[in-house]
Amino acid sequence: MSAAGNFHVAIIMDGNGRWAQRRGLPRSAGHVQGAKMVRRVVEASARAGIRTLTLYAFSADNWGRPSPEVDSLLRLLQCYLASETRRCLRNSVRINVIGRRDRLPAGLVRAIEHSELLTAHCTRMRLRIAIDYSSKHSILEAARRASCNGLSAQNFETLLAEVDHSVAGAGPVDLLIRTGGEQRLSDFLLWDCAYAELYFTEALWPDFGEAGLHAALDDFAGRNRRFGKVLAETA
Ligand code: IPE
Ligand code: IPE
Ligand code: MG
Repeated sequence: MSAAGNFHVAIIMDGNGRWAQRRGLPRSAGHVQGAKMVRRVVEASARAGIRTLTLYAFSADNWGRPSPEVDSLLRLLQCYLASETRRCLRNSVRINVIGRRDRLPAGLVRAIEHSELLTAHCTRMRLRIAIDYSSKHSILEAARRASCNGLSAQNFETLLAEVDHSVAGAGPVDLLIRTGGEQRLSDFLLWDCAYAELYFTEALWPDFGEAGLHAALDDFAGRNRRFGKVLAETA
């Protein structure tokens, strides 16, 4: 867990397309099923005591998909925010969308701002949803804004959070989960995952479930995190 007890889990929710294709359905059906899984995992995460949950919903590189798929993904995200904000409010979950906003449809930006405003006082869990997110872009943009000498890592992180529209205190990632069987980061939270424990599962995102989350948390509980030091008992 992070120093301040802010347990931060990040998830690369991959495998929606394959889930649909295996059933002879269009890829968009996989995204619809994936959105249902988001709701379940958000609730399970709050119950499990996770303080910050960051979900990779749409990467900057996902703009390169066929436009009907991009459109359906963005529409789905807007629907998700419209339908889940009240539920988050009830569960004291603070919504925060990280990533660029200048390329998103105006309706989606309005929905983001509305969800963030309505849930700004919620304290049980931060739910960060990454949309039009690219870690490399964020780091470059923060570096461009930094442009003065002698900037500390802490101040750089503040700039990075500002670039990302991230609320304060999200902190480094403790556990990064990727579903769908691939073992890569796909430009997600490169700075924040410097000491994250990585967990990869073959489960496709729509099949992940609360059991999948608990399997990942159990695995994490058995890890030895050394942060470059030696463990006390072996020193
Ligand atoms: C993840 O599922 C959702 C997004 C990237 C938006 P994919 O759509 O990448 O599903 P696969 O990897 O093609 O199965
Ligand atoms: C990563 O999945 C992005 C999201 C889950 C939103 P991709 O399916 O886009 O990643 P690659 O192409 O397999 O690296
Ligand atoms: Mg994928």
